[in-house]
Amino acid sequence: MPGLPFFPDQASTIAGRVDTLFVFMLGLATFVTMLVSSLISYFAIKYRRRSPDELPEQIVGSNKLEVLWTVIPLGLAMVVFFWSAGLYLDMSRPPPETLDIYVVGKQWMWQFQHPEGQRELDELHVPMGRAIKLTMTSQDVIHSFYVPAFRVKADVLPGRYTTTWFEATRPGTYHLFCAEYCGTDHSRMTGWVIVMEPAEFQSWLGTSAEAPATVGAKLFQQFGCAACHRADGNGPGPSLVGVFGQPVQLQSGETVIADENYIRESILNPNAKIVAGYQPIMPTFQDRLSEEQLMPLIIHIKSLAGQRPESQPTPVSSPTP
Ligand code: CUA
Repeated sequence: MPGLPFFPDQASTIAGRVDTLFVFMLGLATFVTMLVSSLISYFAIKYRRRSPDELPEQIVGSNKLEVLWTVIPLGLAMVVFFWSAGLYLDMSRPPPETLDIYVVGKQWMWQFQHPEGQRELDELHVPMGRAIKLTMTSQDVIHSFYVPAFRVKADVLPGRYTTTWFEATRPGTYHLFCAEYCGTDHSRMTGWVIVMEPAEFQSWLGTSAEAPATVGAKLFQQFGCAACHRADGNGPGPSLVGVFGQPVQLQSGETVIADENYIRESILNPNAKIVAGYQPIMPTFQDRLSEEQLMPLIIHIKSLAGQRPESQPTPVSSPTP
């Protein structure tokens, strides 16, 4: 309907699927509402009391009816359940090849960090036709990253990383909102996502800024991480080469996957999970690293995943900047 925007633009790969499910559920709810209300009206008239002393006939239950009105709604509810659960899983699991962008929410702005080094404030430039994975955290309270045109909404929490992903299908400029009340200027914590053609995006990226992995590698030396976490594995701490994304055996017997939240916790609260065969001697970096420093550091540790211990003969114990 022109001039009456019932829906925001459909600008991501899942937007159409979300809308189809929504329209189906709206249709189902409308059908049931109409059915129940018209039956109520019909029965109210048909079985009205015709004389003041009329007594209604006693009705004994009907198993056939009971089964019918239990099984049909159950079937409909199951259709909605499996349909939406499937869509939810697709929305929460990014495809294997993604462009990773880091997001920090704070009162009251959005900070974006591109892997090539560009940083943005309240504006996010992304290429069309490529899966974008956002790893997000908050510096203060809970925010929520919401882009209606992509049908993407995810909470941004202090003290941990949450992720979401989308693939934009149409170039354009789309609203970004904070969808969690976060204080005085919550309503002004808005921004824009700018979707560009891939070639246009490449030229926008340019080559000026320093990549976060490089910044992280410097922090790794500067904060003395490299002295213990030697690449050859002979330091007092475990080598971090090839660790990211892999299972880690803990002292407790448990096994955890070394993801962003695990690395983050191990930096801020090193004694929470001790790697099997190592002593709990690492100090906390809770008050020494800011969110803006943690991110490149984790990106650096992530980049070490590509290297295998055997293909990494040079130990990094003697930093030569
Ligand atoms: Cu941030 Cu509301």
